[in-house]
Amino acid sequence: MKITFLGHACLQIELQNHTLIVDPFITGNPKNNKIQLSDIKANYILVTHAHQDHTLDVLTLAKQTGATLISNYEIVTHYEAQGVKGHPMNHGGSYGFNFGELKFVNAIHSSSFADGSYGGQPGGFILSAEGKSVYIAGDTALTYDMKLFGSAFDLNLAILPVGDNFTMGYADALRASKLLNCSRVLGYHFDTFGYIEINHDKAVNYFLDHGSSLELLEIGESLTL
Ligand code: NI
Ligand code: MN
Repeated sequence: MKITFLGHACLQIELQNHTLIVDPFITGNPKNNKIQLSDIKANYILVTHAHQDHTLDVLTLAKQTGATLISNYEIVTHYEAQGVKGHPMNHGGSYGFNFGELKFVNAIHSSSFADGSYGGQPGGFILSAEGKSVYIAGDTALTYDMKLFGSAFDLNLAILPVGDNFTMGYADALRASKLLNCSRVLGYHFDTFGYIEINHDKAVNYFLDHGSSLELLEIGESLTL
């Protein structure tokens, strides 16, 4: 499994025969001068919640690729009305897709569309595929529910927001990694806007000092599990 950071909270997950894109926000990212939306391939688009910094490019990408959208019921319904193929989920539910299994888990956040309309409840995903399990937190605060995720799954990687202000910051992300029982963390949702700029060295060293590892990738960089 190869995971590429496409900026902000957007990820490309390449499995043997399928490509998943999480929370497409490429054209609106002020820090992105590397990734072209028109180059992106996808079989599935996973969306954690309706906020614009997670959904801006959903429609264009879905039309360009014919990918199936996987998200909460309200977000899927919203895009199905615009001709997108969708698979709705809700909190606590798992489903076996042709690429692996997804569990849609809760997040502590909000989830309105840009026009203020209801975007259901925010969530995250636990992806199990090719013998690995990855927790994609979405935008969330630290929550004790993470302890349950860590007890149900043997996680190889936790992808956690670290930018603070709108989500947890890196100190809470470290606490999350302990609850999740997962010492390898990929940080996302940082630096895109002024409110969420972080000191990379401080964040990475904070994790090291507490026995965990935090990776902060440049846009376009990948890690392999
Ligand atoms: Ni958000
Ligand atoms: Mn966000």
